[in-house]
Amino acid sequence: MSRLAGIAVRHAAAERPCAIRRARTDEAALLTELGLRAKAVWGYDAAFLARCRTMMTVKSANIATRPHYVAELGGRVAGFYGLEPETEGVGLDYLFVEPELIGGGIGRALWDHAVATARALDHRALIVVSDPNAEGFYLKMGCARVGTRPSELEDGRRLPLLRFRLL
Ligand SMILES: CC(C)(COP(=O)(O)OP(=O)(O)OC[C@H]1O[C@@H](n2cnc3c(N)ncnc32)[C@H](O)[C@@H]1OP(=O)(O)O)[C@@H](O)C(=O)NCCC(=O)NCCS
Repeated sequence: MSRLAGIAVRHAAAERPCAIRRARTDEAALLTELGLRAKAVWGYDAAFLARCRTMMTVKSANIATRPHYVAELGGRVAGFYGLEPETEGVGLDYLFVEPELIGGGIGRALWDHAVATARALDHRALIVVSDPNAEGFYLKMGCARVGTRPSELEDGRRLPLLRFRLL
């Protein structure tokens, strides 16, 4: 996996290089807050976002034991992703970009890195349970919609279930 660390990518909007590196366990709180700021761009109300916090809290123990990577731009964390176990393949636990940097290519760079990481670990598929507003991004990345999953946060809310073939 170490061969994946430190990959340099272009940040399309700023035309400055960003780098992807392994997340550190002491960044759990910073990544949690970044994820919640990113989630808020879809206009959810405060009560929903408060419920999201429980689900979206990044755990140091998971950073230590599962692939978690951050994109750095100008020495600052611009986004991150994390992988988690799934019954078939591996799941994308997180993929978030700092709000003011959304639309600048960092999401794609992190996605490409996540695909490379999952392939290097010999998984057959990368599974995404997406925020409905982000589904278009995953479809653009080449995922296929394979169904829905119930939200753990809201009765009756169903989330897009997407699959990216790795083999
Ligand atoms: C979804 C997210 C990670 C995408 O990151 P990003 O840096 O904005 O994505 P990029 O700029 O790399 O976009 C790559 C391509 O996807 C498209 N795209 C990005 N977000 C999209 C969306 N929500 N719907 C449709 N297409 C989208 C872009 O237009 C771009 O297309 P192009 O290559 O033809 O120009 C980012 O918007 C985000 O963090 N959103 C808030 C939190 C969230 O919902 N995360 C996902 C949780 S499942």
